[in-house]
Amino acid sequence: MSPEKSRVLTGITTTGTPHLGNYVGAIRPAIAASKSAELDSYFFLADYHALIKCHDPAQVQQSAREIAATWLALGLDTENTTFYRQSDVPEIPELTWVITCVTAKGLMNRAHAYKAAVQANEDEQQDPDYGITMGLFSYPILMAADILAFNAHKVPVGRDQIQHIEMARDIGQRFNHLYGETFTLPEAQIDDDVAVLNGLDGRKMSKSYGNTIPLFLPEKKLQKAINKIKTNLLEPGEPKDPDTSTVFQIWQAFASKEQTAWMRKQFEEGIAWGQAKKELGALINSELSEAREEYEKLMADPGFVDAELRKGAEKARERAGKLLAKVKAAVGIPPLS
Ligand code: TRP
Repeated sequence: MSPEKSRVLTGITTTGTPHLGNYVGAIRPAIAASKSAELDSYFFLADYHALIKCHDPAQVQQSAREIAATWLALGLDTENTTFYRQSDVPEIPELTWVITCVTAKGLMNRAHAYKAAVQANEDEQQDPDYGITMGLFSYPILMAADILAFNAHKVPVGRDQIQHIEMARDIGQRFNHLYGETFTLPEAQIDDDVAVLNGLDGRKMSKSYGNTIPLFLPEKKLQKAINKIKTNLLEPGEPKDPDTSTVFQIWQAFASKEQTAWMRKQFEEGIAWGQAKKELGALINSELSEAREEYEKLMADPGFVDAELRKGAEKARERAGKLLAKVKAAVGIPPLS
């Protein structure tokens, strides 16, 4: 852990296949950051978090493979960053327990995800605890351990995760207060310049809406998916409003300034929806085709991906291990003599 560099850390829950929204909103900016020599960055597969949402072992494993291969195919710099699976760093669940013991239950009661689950039960006249696991309830504590284990300064996340970062701060602060300065208090990093992409139906692109376009679809399937983006009934030749169009919004996320200005003009001049979608397919394909090829290679050869993850876990364990030793000593569990 280099004291001079800013430590940036973020986790990706391993459920589902990466889609264009993940790419534009999280993966692309993170990979750009991975190349910065000023940052000490940590990217990890939150596979223990996946168990909270998904009890299908095949899906958990497949998703972790896809996500790891995606990040590597897109050029993640694994020399300059630490890239690992959460489950390969046992110091994280160990730390989870220690901080669980300083976390107020009342704090967890206020977590949005937990409250939403209770609310859904109440709306359906169910027992409020129906279907709620301790995993869901304690989710923010595991997430706090992910962050605190590396004394991360900045945590790039979507807005929906801000509360979790605040909880990590609260928990770290509580520990520091009880046992002495141990943890850096993390801050959420919200990138307002990054687009939140809309999906096929015009709502936010999200696995839970089933409206996503997977990132590495083969070229023809990619075009087919793009053709399904919802548009209106305006005919070719009729001017179209770029600012309410998902096709244009996605275009903008991949295009240069000049290309965006050009497409805006095409909309004003009444480009046919079919044509606009063809242009969009070609644009996305030009940005992703090389990485897609690499992705397919990596998926066919898990050995390479696994070796990278193993290397990352070693680095991660070394760093988290030092901090965990300090934490355990602070609470009165030093090593045996
Ligand atoms: N909860 C995050 C999400 O669903 C994933 C995550 C797990 C995470 N641990 C983290 C993000 C630690 C940032 C830091 O998006």
